[in-house]
Amino acid sequence: MEISRRSFLKFCGMGTVGAVSAGLLAGCGSSTTSTSSGSSSGTSGTVANKDKPLVWYNRQPSNSSTGDLDTNALHFNDDTYYVGFDATQGAEAQGQMIKDYIEKNIATLDRNGDGTIGYVLAIGDVGHNDSIARTRGVRKILGTAVEQDGKVISDPIGTNTDGSSSSVQDATLEINGKNYTIRELASQEMKNSAGATWDAATAGNAIGTWASSFGDQIDLIISNNDGMGMSIFNAWSKDNKVPTFGYDANNDAVAAIPEGYAGTISQHADVQAYLTLRLLRNALDSADISLGISTADDAGNVLEDDTYTYNEDERSYYATNVPVTSDNYQDFSDSTKIYEGASKQLDSSKSPTKKVWLDIYNAADNFLSSTYQPLLQKYDDLLNLDVDYIGGDGQTESNITNRLGNPSEYDAYAINMVKTDNASSYTSLLSQ
Ligand code: BGC
Repeated sequence: MEISRRSFLKFCGMGTVGAVSAGLLAGCGSSTTSTSSGSSSGTSGTVANKDKPLVWYNRQPSNSSTGDLDTNALHFNDDTYYVGFDATQGAEAQGQMIKDYIEKNIATLDRNGDGTIGYVLAIGDVGHNDSIARTRGVRKILGTAVEQDGKVISDPIGTNTDGSSSSVQDATLEINGKNYTIRELASQEMKNSAGATWDAATAGNAIGTWASSFGDQIDLIISNNDGMGMSIFNAWSKDNKVPTFGYDANNDAVAAIPEGYAGTISQHADVQAYLTLRLLRNALDSADISLGISTADDAGNVLEDDTYTYNEDERSYYATNVPVTSDNYQDFSDSTKIYEGASKQLDSSKSPTKKVWLDIYNAADNFLSSTYQPLLQKYDDLLNLDVDYIGGDGQTESNITNRLGNPSEYDAYAINMVKTDNASSYTSLLSQ
């Protein structure tokens, strides 16, 4: 008989699970915090790895071509969740922020005065649903989107000097009684030769090529994230005073707003990093999953309703995105500041130290390394979690899975895949 860790602990505590084998009943007496490694952290000797809490984060298990969610991975066991952000809402917020900027600044935006507002687009990863959503959101709101089979095309177009691309279209925007054309002049996936995506250095090089082909036809730079956006800003657009938009609200990007970086989106990394570890904590404590999230815990930690949504079928928590522009950037000056409402230490007698294995798919990813990981490191102390941080190379899954050699040493796992299709590379290790 299969019985999940949580039902098992609940059964041992109060008995609601129905018929249970003698072997499992015998297991009720043994300690779930006995350690196999001899460390001071509790590691569970009685729970199978496949039944331990698992949070996927930042890269949602899904088919990288169709975007369909990988429901097996999201329902791996009763304590499996995904934590990310609302990609569609964020993408449309990015598109709207850019459209508002165009309307407000049209008098100075059209650098060569040809009536066409040209933009170039840096794409992060053609198989990553956040990247796909951002490309779609921007094209949809600016009016340059073309649909195929009911979906906005999110492919990079290469170059589109004369507006004849079939994957995007020229849009018309009427501002102050005058019609302007909005054109996606070029877009490219920023992948380096070793295969790393969202690659900032590649974006910094691409702008050199684009600037020499398009010159002052480029009126705007749009990037799927700040890592690439800032690389372009530093290499070219700051000097050329071309407004540049990114995503993530990393510290360096927010600090560049008064120097001309035009805007970014906060994906509420403070809330996401908290949720990533909090869900593990709750499952490890056999607590209600919403404790410290929608309902306050004993220490008073709780999130405000408008900072996230939960989709039960998808087992996914999605943080809300907020535009950051010259109007409000001062409120976002420290992206590694933890969420104030969830900043209180848990009592270690009720939530004893547990060991967590957590990987970051690419140790060089700007957002994950400069924003997300510092936040995780603050929350792990507050939540009494002893986390091993594993940094990947951003290219191969095996670089990371090789370092999950002994999953039994850990009480819970938080996984950030290189490729969203690869959940089974991890779940197969946990199922052995
Ligand atoms: C972030 C990107 C990051 C990517 C990595 C996205 O959600 O916005 O900046 O590179 O995740 O998976």
